[in-house]
Amino acid sequence: MWHFIVMLAACAVFLLCWVSVSRSAPLACEDLVRPSNQPDLHHVEGRWVFVAGSLSYLPFIERLRQRDSSAVRFSTNGNKTDILFSRSMRSENKCYYTSTNISLEGSSFIYDNGSVNITFMHTSCHDCILLSCDVDSGTRQHFYLFSKRRQLEEKEMEEFRAQVECLNMPPPVVMDPTKQLCPEETADDQTEEKIGEQNS
Ligand SMILES: *[C@@H]1O[C@H](CO)[C@@H](O)[C@H](O)[C@H]1NC(C)=O
Ligand SMILES: *[C@@H]1O[C@H](CO)[C@@H](O)[C@H](O)[C@H]1NC(C)=O
Ligand SMILES: *[C@@H]1O[C@H](CO)[C@@H](O)[C@H](O)[C@H]1NC(C)=O
Ligand SMILES: *[C@@H]1O[C@H](CO)[C@@H](O)[C@H](O)[C@H]1NC(C)=O
Repeated sequence: MWHFIVMLAACAVFLLCWVSVSRSAPLACEDLVRPSNQPDLHHVEGRWVFVAGSLSYLPFIERLRQRDSSAVRFSTNGNKTDILFSRSMRSENKCYYTSTNISLEGSSFIYDNGSVNITFMHTSCHDCILLSCDVDSGTRQHFYLFSKRRQLEEKEMEEFRAQVECLNMPPPVVMDPTKQLCPEETADDQTEEKIGEQNS
């Protein structure tokens, strides 16, 4: 009887250890890097600030590092085939804007006249979107993390670094959260500009 209890205890300890080991084991790459399920338009909508990213094409990494800030905005009217995708980028105190209509197919959309295929990827960060950009039929890959926040928690960054590592891409460039963002191009901004012109 006594033996039986000791054995039972040993089994329990073994099981507990085994459970905690398997819990803390790092996720396999196929779990870590996968397209998100059909992205929810309500979640995707709005402005997202670029937090960190990696590029497979090394010469462009330096360009990314020199960027002060950038952001994207998805404007939808609830129609996934009619989404306005706007980008802004700040570099050397100048702002650059582009805007184009896109159409979401599954988790992907085509950008830049078909040369870029952008896929929403899975991320466990609740207020982030993770975009994988396949450029020129897979010649280059960009892997970009955006968030509503300018700076993420260390464990969120760890997940992103692990994802980048899974893709065998260079360590990510992390943006400086204190750098200014471009003002959004809105009807209000244009009005302000006009008022400014009248005053000068
Ligand atoms: C979405 O846009 C497409 C193409 O412009 C149109 O055919 C469709 O009726 C729209 N759907 C909704 C729900 O507005
Ligand atoms: C996007 O589509 C809307 C109407 O569907 C149009 O008014 C707008 O000019 C388009 N924008 C661009 C950048 O093509
Ligand atoms: C993209 O396509 C449009 C219309 O087909 C064309 O006017 C434009 O020059 C193209 N841009 C590039 C970069 O190929
Ligand atoms: C874009 O990439 C996704 C994910 O790799 C793929 O499923 C989809 O077919 C691609 N779309 C096009 C038009 O190539």
